[in-house]
Amino acid sequence: MRLGVLGSGKGSNFVAIADGIVAGRVPAEVVLVASDVPDAGILAHARERGIPAVYLPPGKFRTKLDEEAEVALIAALETARVDLVVLAGYMRILKGELLRRFEGRVVNIHPSLLPSFPGLAAWKQALDYGVKITGCTVHLVDQGIDTGPIIAQRAVPVLDGDTPATLHERVQSAERELYPAVVAAWARGEIRVRGRATVGFAG
Ligand code: GRF
Repeated sequence: MRLGVLGSGKGSNFVAIADGIVAGRVPAEVVLVASDVPDAGILAHARERGIPAVYLPPGKFRTKLDEEAEVALIAALETARVDLVVLAGYMRILKGELLRRFEGRVVNIHPSLLPSFPGLAAWKQALDYGVKITGCTVHLVDQGIDTGPIIAQRAVPVLDGDTPATLHERVQSAERELYPAVVAAWARGEIRVRGRATVGFAG
């Protein structure tokens, strides 16, 4: 299975997936890493591993791609013959044409137990709200923000004395276990999606 990974940040989830591939735990190949941020860590990590890594300028908007940028991203993914688009800290909202072309083949990881705390800095939202358990969620991407069918979740305790930074690190450490495991299950053809119901992830 050919993965196209999109990210805007440091790329720890990408690294976890790439390491899982090298270790033989994830039967897939990352054929492209693309970012909307020219100096994103994810691009450097990809280049260190000899994986094609491209900066694609996002265009004139702040939170989404403009039409030209979306066309360029679709072209890059299609040229690389990507089977599954893996969002790993990609800070642009994807809508429209890209989701149509890759319908049911775009996944994301979100740092909370959805549907609680969609949107930005979800670990901080959880801490501010006062929940005792939060976590992370791998889900399919649909037209909404963090609303697509849930594939897998992992719970993370909120501890007395947690700060946003300590909780974020604990959630991210859960992400680095969960995301490669889900991608591996997807690559093995174990995950089935029927409407909002997804089955097949045992981990
Ligand atoms: C992750 O925490 C993920 O939940 C969110 O963006 C963050 C990306 O981190 N969608 P990294 O770039 O993979 O380290």
